Amino acid sequence: MRILVCKDYNEVSQKAAQMILSQITLKPNCVLGLATGSTPIGMYENLVTMYQQGLVDFSEVQTFNLDEYLSISPTNEQSYHYFMNEYLFNHVNIDKNHIHIPNGMADSMQEECIRYEQLIKDVGGIDIQVLGIGHNAHIGFNEPTINFEKGTHIVELDESTRQANARFFNHIDEVPKYAITMGTGSIFKSRKIMLLATGTSKAQAIHDMVYGKVQPEVPASILQFHHDVVLILDEEAASLLLDGDYKRV
Ligand code: F6R
Repeated sequence: MRILVCKDYNEVSQKAAQMILSQITLKPNCVLGLATGSTPIGMYENLVTMYQQGLVDFSEVQTFNLDEYLSISPTNEQSYHYFMNEYLFNHVNIDKNHIHIPNGMADSMQEECIRYEQLIKDVGGIDIQVLGIGHNAHIGFNEPTINFEKGTHIVELDESTRQANARFFNHIDEVPKYAITMGTGSIFKSRKIMLLATGTSKAQAIHDMVYGKVQPEVPASILQFHHDVVLILDEEAASLLLDGDYKRV
């Protein structure tokens, strides 16, 4: 696990965008695994700027998002479909047929989970997966539990996750209770993983992920076993790590 520590959120966002740019430059038809939430917003803004400057071409890129709330329409401002259009897809030359986000409105959610997992397989897997991390160390919406879930599945969101995400809604009661998410297994199969975290509120989760026992109660801890993971942190998120264990960039 490579750990890079940047001065602040802006530098984390720039560094992350540069890594995506390098990936697309190396393999123009690459498959990106994407995340939502507050953390990657700066990375998406940097990517849009890079696109406007002619530095990156999304025309052959395919994307797979980690997750979506259940029973929220893609046009709802709180949906992850809406988020991705707003922060990235509406501003770059991606082919709309190359965008994949789990459908939280499918008639059969069981079939949707199978379909999504199969789609990832059909394109040959994810080249680089972007992750944020929850305060409880969730990745995607894989909440702490008693086993690592392999594939895309339906999950009941933790109360702490609903509280954390309530800032995007008018009231906590509006935050959905269920979501569809790629499993820790689906995430783990990605060729590269880049996890972003900023702020002191993420420091404990980062500490537990890096040093703790690998266990489903700390979902991100599984990344200790992955052969190509880079964490891009600001100083606050890295504040519980030992100096020698990371590189300042
Ligand atoms: C989002 C996702 C979540 C978030 C995590 C951190 O697609 O899968 O795991 O990455 O909840 O969210 P923020 O960045 O808002 O702190």
